[in-house]
Amino acid sequence: MPRVSTGTGKPWGGRFSQGQDPEAEAFTASLGFDRRLWPYDIEGSAAWARALARAGLISQGELTALLDGLEAVRAELAEGRFPFRRELEDIHMNIERRLIELAGPVGGKLHTGRSRNDQIALDERLYLRDVIAAVDGAVREVQAALLDRAEEHLGAAMPGYTHLQRAQPVLLSHHLLAYVCMLERDRARLRDGSARVNVLPLGAAALAGAAFPIDREVLARDLRFAAPSPNSMDAVSDRDFILEFLSQAAILGMHLSRLAADLTLWATSEFGFVEFSDAFATGSSIMPQKKNPDVAELIRGKSGRLYGNLLAVLTTMKGLPLTYNSDMQEDKEPLFDTVDTLRAILTVAPPMLRSLTFKVERMRAAAGAHSSTATDLADYLVRKGLPFREAHEVVGRTVRHALAHGKELADLTLEELTQFSPLIEADVHHALTVEASLQARAVVGGTAPDAVKRALAAARNLVEQDSR
Ligand code: ARG
Repeated sequence: MPRVSTGTGKPWGGRFSQGQDPEAEAFTASLGFDRRLWPYDIEGSAAWARALARAGLISQGELTALLDGLEAVRAELAEGRFPFRRELEDIHMNIERRLIELAGPVGGKLHTGRSRNDQIALDERLYLRDVIAAVDGAVREVQAALLDRAEEHLGAAMPGYTHLQRAQPVLLSHHLLAYVCMLERDRARLRDGSARVNVLPLGAAALAGAAFPIDREVLARDLRFAAPSPNSMDAVSDRDFILEFLSQAAILGMHLSRLAADLTLWATSEFGFVEFSDAFATGSSIMPQKKNPDVAELIRGKSGRLYGNLLAVLTTMKGLPLTYNSDMQEDKEPLFDTVDTLRAILTVAPPMLRSLTFKVERMRAAAGAHSSTATDLADYLVRKGLPFREAHEVVGRTVRHALAHGKELADLTLEELTQFSPLIEADVHHALTVEASLQARAVVGGTAPDAVKRALAAARNLVEQDSR
């Protein structure tokens, strides 16, 4: 086995005469969590080896030996037989040491002009690039499930709420499409952020730039990055690309928590708008009659850790002097937890949505109750020439009358209604129906059935077209 370090067995052993305290070693090691970056560490190392060869720093024979060695290390990792060693601190040094063992002393040439500081920034960017593509695809599956349910129930009316008070009738499809729109912006944010992920930090070395003639433009192309980072100190010291992802994830989680909260509310006996399938619910350990919407509750609940992870990394980064500081090793666990949490949410959400039973009759009945078309009576009076503010006043008094007599606005007789305004005629009863109320809202983005049908087709197009 080639000797790559003196003294302590660490790659930096030369400078040290004493071994590391075991508690200090356990405390500083990141191997326990950064090992998941191994595919990216190998990909980056292979590209760096090619860059060294292009710069004439290693021969073609040495390049082949390094690439073969990296391939052997990759196989060990992929097959679960890689000998992880915590005393080598992190995934980077574990892979490098194993490469030297398998490829021989030439393995010791790989780290020429490179630092773990540009190496980790590279690994994280390569990792995030894959994550963003996967999250984008998974969000699209949630959109597809929502679109399918919206299409299936096109025409079903429900109460729309403001202040959680019944406000105006809307289509269930319109409500579901609201979430499709939010998720579309979440995907746009991910795509936008990937432009800033897609920048090559390698070649920045420790902080001042590599002291060898590495062509970073070619290296960037080799790794499918848009460009090399323009400043080596920025490249190794910032984690804003991770913060952007964590904030995109927090916003996405917030949207899904609201969807989950709506469904949880709708599944109550009080609402009774939806029933979860047994497959996406749980029972109570004491109350035999219960069916709890745990999956939706946990989708709602897990947004908390997405926010926490963003705050954790923001706080770690705050006030750090340039350039790299070990504090930054703390970026990984929050990042990985956010990735795992999103993956879990986005995997369970589409089948849960597909298994819901919407109680459309109950929704329809609720849509017409509590004088939900009062605004339509005001609009009716406006169409007959009354200024809106006066119409609002007239209808307010009419509603008070209805309430006092235990009636719905729509159930008042024509005689009762005409007491409040001489402009009211026999056609008023049609205007007060849920159907007329929906039809009237035919503006772009409104809840009229035709408008919703068009919005649905447009959303379907968008979701299908930008899936790559
Ligand atoms: N494990 C380190 C991290 O995650 C890699 C970079 C370490 N660089 C250093 N000079 N200690 O941030």
